[in-house]
Amino acid sequence: MERRDFLTSVGQVSVFVCAGSLVAACSKSNSTPSGNNNGGGNNSGTLISADLNSELQAIGSAKINGSVIVIRIANDNVASSFVALSLICTHMGCTVNYDQSSESFKCPCHGSGYDVTGKVTHGPAAAPLPSYTVTVANNTLTVS
Ligand code: FES
Repeated sequence: MERRDFLTSVGQVSVFVCAGSLVAACSKSNSTPSGNNNGGGNNSGTLISADLNSELQAIGSAKINGSVIVIRIANDNVASSFVALSLICTHMGCTVNYDQSSESFKCPCHGSGYDVTGKVTHGPAAAPLPSYTVTVANNTLTVS
């Protein structure tokens, strides 16, 4: 093999390795939360706990723990007055931002939008934000 042929083949291998690395870096993360969209969630532990005597008192108010958020959407201190969602965008795994004033989510990476229930309002995301189970007992809220 001549020197020129060797350098050409090394360059082609390098291009393939770099392209593979970029694809891997841009692919969906496998570390997304394991909640689901029917509110059932399959986490057995408590993800968020809140004392409703002092926290989450206004509609739209939220509490975040890691990549999980719980938001009050109605007045009564019952589970249906809250939504708990993953903050991980379903497009490619970026963390979405919650805007309390509009009660919506916006992804900073490619512009996907979600309403307060996690439903997609603007693509490119096609799937809703995964949800978690909310329970309320004795004015203590638990997300699991
Ligand atoms: S990762 Fe959120 S829009 Fe692409």
